[in-house]
Amino acid sequence: HFFHITFLFFSLSFNLVVIALEEKIIVSKLGDNATLSCIYRGRELHLKNLRVYWQIADDQEECSVVHALISGQDNESEQCIHFKNRTQLFWDRLKNGDFSLLLLNVSQSDEHTYKCVVLQKTEYTRVIHQAEVVLSLAASYSQPILSGPIKNSNSTGEEVTFSCRSGNGYPEPNVYWINKTDNSHLPPSQLNITPHADGTYSVFSTLRVKATSNMQIECSIENKILRENLSANYTQQKQSNGSSTESHKNLEKKGQGAQAAGIISIVILIGLLVGLTCWLWRWRSSKLVSYTGNE
Ligand SMILES: *[C@@H]1O[C@H](CO)[C@@H](O)[C@H](O)[C@H]1NC(C)=O
Ligand SMILES: *[C@@H]1O[C@H](CO)[C@@H](O)[C@H](O)[C@H]1NC(C)=O
Ligand SMILES: *[C@@H]1O[C@H](CO)[C@@H](O)[C@H](O)[C@H]1NC(C)=O
Ligand SMILES: *[C@@H]1O[C@H](CO)[C@@H](O)[C@H](O)[C@H]1NC(C)=O
Ligand SMILES: *[C@@H]1O[C@H](CO)[C@@H](O)[C@H](O)[C@H]1NC(C)=O
Ligand SMILES: *[C@@H]1O[C@H](CO)[C@@H](O)[C@H](O)[C@H]1NC(C)=O
Ligand SMILES: *[C@@H]1O[C@H](CO)[C@@H](O)[C@H](O)[C@H]1NC(C)=O
Ligand SMILES: *[C@@H]1O[C@H](CO)[C@@H](O)[C@H](O)[C@H]1NC(C)=O
Ligand SMILES: *[C@@H]1O[C@H](CO)[C@@H](O)[C@H](O)[C@H]1NC(C)=O
Repeated sequence: HFFHITFLFFSLSFNLVVIALEEKIIVSKLGDNATLSCIYRGRELHLKNLRVYWQIADDQEECSVVHALISGQDNESEQCIHFKNRTQLFWDRLKNGDFSLLLLNVSQSDEHTYKCVVLQKTEYTRVIHQAEVVLSLAASYSQPILSGPIKNSNSTGEEVTFSCRSGNGYPEPNVYWINKTDNSHLPPSQLNITPHADGTYSVFSTLRVKATSNMQIECSIENKILRENLSANYTQQKQSNGSSTESHKNLEKKGQGAQAAGIISIVILIGLLVGLTCWLWRWRSSKLVSYTGNE
């Protein structure tokens, strides 16, 4: 890249200025708006003399013009259909040399390396700034749901199956099964990663192991791009107490939900009672008034 640019530069201007090619990686979530940054920190510019091209740098086959600004105006004549109505420059920042591009509603097909090229036309046309931005797409996985054998059953020595599922994530996840007793990794016996029409993946994995007493198993779903590990734990409880396969967390949530519902219904009940009392009171006093009025 660099040699190519400097060559172009020399051939056009015979001037000795080094053009540094910045490169950035930005991570965006599916459906979000991504800002691809391209900032020129040089002297003041006259928009009329500029051409700014945002293009796809890593795929020459397809249409490559993402956005073009020519003589201070957006020019859509060469823009790829894929980017129509989805790109915006920040008009209030252009005069400060900020040619960053806002790309709306990003999807997997926008995963590319983008290049911003700023050309200035005075006596001659020359490249005054370039920047590259790598756009990576990502979406968080849902909190994994881990299920295992019924916790108070004595299955010591038997083969038991754990299963773990999660979804709505991108890109494909890594799945780890961990024996929390010694933090060792356990190989899954099944791992299904399913792509969906909206571009996200769901994952289902199972683990078969010989049961031991006080098993502590963790299933962890890793999103490499987001550097996110979501985990769910299975902790075998002491015998005779606890009976559900659900995790403590779920039970706690349910408990809180039930509590909240209880409080709300009590408040409503009190409200109704107060209303009824008021109504009865007024009804009685109006009767009283009309009664005394008749006397
Ligand atoms: C993306 O930008 C558009 C237009 O500016 C706005 O309507 C929309 O709410 C933004 N979406 C998100 C997820 O921020
Ligand atoms: C866009 O650029 C082309 C040449 O690159 C030019 O012919 C056309 O008039 C421009 N359109 C607008 C709206 O500026
Ligand atoms: C872009 O927006 C214009 C007007 O809002 C609309 O007529 C046109 O069909 C849109 N183009 C695409 C490719 O969505
Ligand atoms: C965003 O793009 C997806 C396709 O990638 C489309 O289905 C959805 O309607 C778009 N959303 C908005 C708000 O334009
Ligand atoms: C569970 O069963 C095993 C044999 O099947 C037995 O040795 C062990 O004592 C039992 N544990 C409990 C807590 O009942
Ligand atoms: C977990 O690790 C402990 C300690 O090393 C071991 O005794 C136990 O068998 C392991 N559990 C499983 C399910 O592999
Ligand atoms: C996620 O967890 C796995 C297994 O413990 C580990 O190897 C990996 O480094 C973790 N990743 C991050 C981003 O924390
Ligand atoms: C599972 O246990 C680990 C540590 O043992 C903890 O960091 C993590 O938050 C726990 N996950 C859940 C969902 O409780
Ligand atoms: C079972 O739970 C009761 C209270 O709910 C407690 O008193 C008892 O110690 C528990 N037993 C074991 C073995 O954990």
